[in-house]
Amino acid sequence: MASNARPRVLSGMRPTGKLHLGNYMGALANWVKLQDDYECYFFIADWHALTTDYADTSKVKTNIEEVALDWLGAGLDPEKCVLFLQSKVPEHGKLFLLFSMITPLSWLERVPTYKEQQENLTGKDLTTYGFLGYPLLQAADILLYQPEFVPVGQDQVVHVELTREIARRFNFFYPKPLGDHAPGQSGDARILETVLPEPKVLLTPSPKLPGTDGRKMSKSYGNTIQLTDSEAEVRQKLKTMVTDPARVRRTDPGDPDKCPVGDLHKVFSSSDKLLEVYEGCRTAGIGCIQCKGWAADSLVQILAPIQERRARFTASQAIEIIEEGSIRARRRAAETMREVDDAMQMPIG
Ligand code: TRP
Ligand code: SF4
Repeated sequence: MASNARPRVLSGMRPTGKLHLGNYMGALANWVKLQDDYECYFFIADWHALTTDYADTSKVKTNIEEVALDWLGAGLDPEKCVLFLQSKVPEHGKLFLLFSMITPLSWLERVPTYKEQQENLTGKDLTTYGFLGYPLLQAADILLYQPEFVPVGQDQVVHVELTREIARRFNFFYPKPLGDHAPGQSGDARILETVLPEPKVLLTPSPKLPGTDGRKMSKSYGNTIQLTDSEAEVRQKLKTMVTDPARVRRTDPGDPDKCPVGDLHKVFSSSDKLLEVYEGCRTAGIGCIQCKGWAADSLVQILAPIQERRARFTASQAIEIIEEGSIRARRRAAETMREVDDAMQMPIG
């Protein structure tokens, strides 16, 4: 089958609700490109949402819907890739459990995000077993699909590193039975010598994307431009955006390299427009209001097709697509689990 000749990739996202331009540039836009050249599995990590939000699960369901709709709007195509929901593929839980048997606690305690997050998310009690196990569940998410690559941003690299260590440990304890031809693997371009090959990071190039307050665009800062923001909302948000502090008066020259609006132009505006921005800002030939108007024009141009595509789906259609994808994902996950059970000499099933 032609689709099996393409290298496989897997990635996931927690259901944090409506996605913003930072999520789009940092992950989604890249996934959309990958779907033409790779066999792609993309999933919504709803169990991972519970690791921090277990005390209030009231938003998980709508957040899943919003993320699914944003994915479709961004151009992920269920004909080209498998879009699914973690909790609809119980094999994630099973592999997580098996991994928990072989993983020394110290490996999890030394993951830098563990202590960092405990310190940052002070409103939540994160002394739970599930929170410690976050990266182990992520390792199960990944290895279950035997992917060659995991497209993620820099912040997830340590988790993929741990995943590789878990795979190595698993393969050491449970080598592939000799002479075994894994069922269902016949069309795979790779000859898998281990049950769980170590996947590689496919680092997503992520341009610096500031939010309206000049800090990194992030939901927790409340400084985002969402993929669903209307033109009026985008223009309004841009108006309040911080600029180069050196430009106090209209007649003061500024520097787009020291201005968050300048950073937006660098990512979203044409090179001609960018030249105009540099020239106009440095000579005080343009005002910030005009410059922000241009930035808003560029953003609206990016967002319009996303919103148009998103509007073609209802929430229940989006969920249906994710459910169908989950059936396909489950079929693929079950293949790996058969190999896992076989290597562990556990009853198959
Ligand atoms: N931890 C990832 C994040 O916060 C989400 C995630 C869960 C993931 N499982 C994954 C990403 C598996 C890649 C592969 O963004
Ligand atoms: Fe920033 Fe544009 Fe104002 Fe220059 S003109 S300071 S780039 S908003």
